[in-house]
Amino acid sequence: MQTIRTAKAMRAWSAAHHCEGVTIGLVPTMGALHAGHRALIRAARLSCDAVVVSLFVNPTQFGPTEDFSRYPRKLKADAALCAKEGVDLLFAPPVSEVYPDGFQTTVSVTKLARRWEGEFRPGHFEGVATIVTKLCSLVRPQIAFFGQKDFQQSVLVRRLVEDLNLGTRVVVCPTVRDDDGLALSSRNQSLTPTQRRAVPVLYAALRAGQAAVRAGIRSATRIRRLMRDKIATEPLARVEYLSVCDPRTLEPLSRITRDAVLLGAIRLGHVRLIDNLLVRRDH
Ligand code: PAF
Repeated sequence: MQTIRTAKAMRAWSAAHHCEGVTIGLVPTMGALHAGHRALIRAARLSCDAVVVSLFVNPTQFGPTEDFSRYPRKLKADAALCAKEGVDLLFAPPVSEVYPDGFQTTVSVTKLARRWEGEFRPGHFEGVATIVTKLCSLVRPQIAFFGQKDFQQSVLVRRLVEDLNLGTRVVVCPTVRDDDGLALSSRNQSLTPTQRRAVPVLYAALRAGQAAVRAGIRSATRIRRLMRDKIATEPLARVEYLSVCDPRTLEPLSRITRDAVLLGAIRLGHVRLIDNLLVRRDH
């Protein structure tokens, strides 16, 4: 497995592989890889000739009071996982290579970034949109792989690649969960044992919402209330949002008359967790 750290070398690698007609799959990550990333790499392996994993803790998607400096960095273990999974190339640039002195151009996806995560993490999606645009222009993947766990991010990235004609197909892979339902996330490593015992309540709340839809409840207010009641059973958890939305526009629905997505975010002390479940009216 090769490792590249500069934009120039990344461009050269990509140009050479495009010349040879190789299909490049990109798995963009911020490192601290887990089984969720492994699933993305495996999906990429199945449909692409060459798999690139980017490891870059992107400073521009963290707010001033967020955990950029504390975000787990495990380059050695990440490289070992990638090598074991048959990744062809690790793209692990330093910040100065991605955001050189004088950098001042950003990308914003306006409407899709406004609600939910956008409200609680101002500027976050501008950072995500900017880095994804940069990665796509450097790596030039035919396909890029994202996890459903970050549902709003995946909808926004689909919009972005289409709006900016990046020529990349976006594949969204199902969320990988621990046995108790907790969606895997690099940030789970910062949970204390007490918080770890409490966090499955978010998935339980989403499941309660999904069960209500399956039982024929159509009112979003009722479904939201059910989910809130479930979270209220866990004294450590504070709800940031629980919503019933259109999975394409992310606008809130008042009734479920078609497919919907249940989105949730909770906070336990300093730790924030997000999760989601897709629901179908005919379920
Ligand atoms: O989902 C993530 O890990 C990040 O937001 C991404 C897409 C790698 C951009 O930094």
